[in-house]
Amino acid sequence: MDAAAVADAAGRIAAAMARIIVGKPDTIRLALVAMLAEGHLLVEDVPGVGKTTLAKALARAVDGAVSRVQFTPDLLPGDITGSSVYNRQTSEFEFRPGPVFANVVIADEINRASPKTQSALLECMAEHQVTVDGGTYPLGDPFMVVATQNPVEMDGTYPLPEAQQDRFTVRVSVGYPDPAAELAMLEEHGSTDPLERLRPVTDLRTLRSMIAGVRGLHTAAEVRRYCVEVVGATRRLPEVRLGASPRATLHLLRAARAWAATAGRGYVVPDDVQAVAVPVLAHRLVLGPEGVAARRTPADLVRAAVARVAVPSPPRS
Ligand SMILES: Nc1ncnc2c1ncn2[C@@H]1O[C@H](COP(=O)(O)OP(=O)(O)OP(=O)(O)O)[C@@H](O)[C@H]1O
Ligand SMILES: [Mg+2]
Repeated sequence: MDAAAVADAAGRIAAAMARIIVGKPDTIRLALVAMLAEGHLLVEDVPGVGKTTLAKALARAVDGAVSRVQFTPDLLPGDITGSSVYNRQTSEFEFRPGPVFANVVIADEINRASPKTQSALLECMAEHQVTVDGGTYPLGDPFMVVATQNPVEMDGTYPLPEAQQDRFTVRVSVGYPDPAAELAMLEEHGSTDPLERLRPVTDLRTLRSMIAGVRGLHTAAEVRRYCVEVVGATRRLPEVRLGASPRATLHLLRAARAWAATAGRGYVVPDDVQAVAVPVLAHRLVLGPEGVAARRTPADLVRAAVARVAVPSPPRS
């Protein structure tokens, strides 16, 4: 699938989602970018701004298998991955797949589960397979985790460690809608749940070819080098204790490709890298004492890193 076709299909998905999540086109586009970049999405925000709704809308717009797991402190790893159960009839153990065997897995309030359970999910995210009692079972294709977390109410939570945040390609916060959008929401959502009315606008086969199209998008050597330099710059900022990882560089390039494709462009330009830099990198930075004292935010620092790198002249295909 070429970039124009990817943009066309992505536009249909975005339009379907925009009827559910009003006034948030940028958030919707980033959610799609995460999916097309074969990544996972972390949605972080205060209560009631539509995190769960965003995850559900994305899952529904694509005609794939969806599952949702509400993370709680007593959730066990096997509740996600599945486990072996004894079958009396055959006197054998058989594997009963858990909710992770879907195309889009919504991990709601991921920071409420124990670290052990979180890491079971994160393992699936990295490996796209589950290993239980010596058996290995491949997950869906595509497979995407959309995790939500609330950064404010920290009581009784287990915040995701940096190493685990690193597994998420993109982090978005939804934010409050503006008054006009909020009013439109009342009209849309006042009497019925529009999620119920959302019909899939694309199927898995189309989604797979969109993903393949993004993967095959042309990226010039200058643009790849630019990604490396931007990520490198996050490691050299004095306010940052831990900069972004090489995994982050990979995610940055993939997300930039997906961003370019959703714009219908068949090649990546530095602008694409800049457009996704904050959502791809900010959640991975750990501030040092200087950064904390100066009240810098990770997003701020990503922008500072981008500003330090010379932009290569835009390549033409
Ligand atoms: N921008 C928006 N557009 C449309 N509906 C919205 C928007 N923001 C919030 N809502 C509505 O507000 C309600 C709460 O949304 P949702 O449950 O998704 O929030 P949440 O962020 O997951 O909250 P929590 O952190 O409590 O789980 C839903 O009915 C949702 O449709
Ligand atoms: Mg929620």
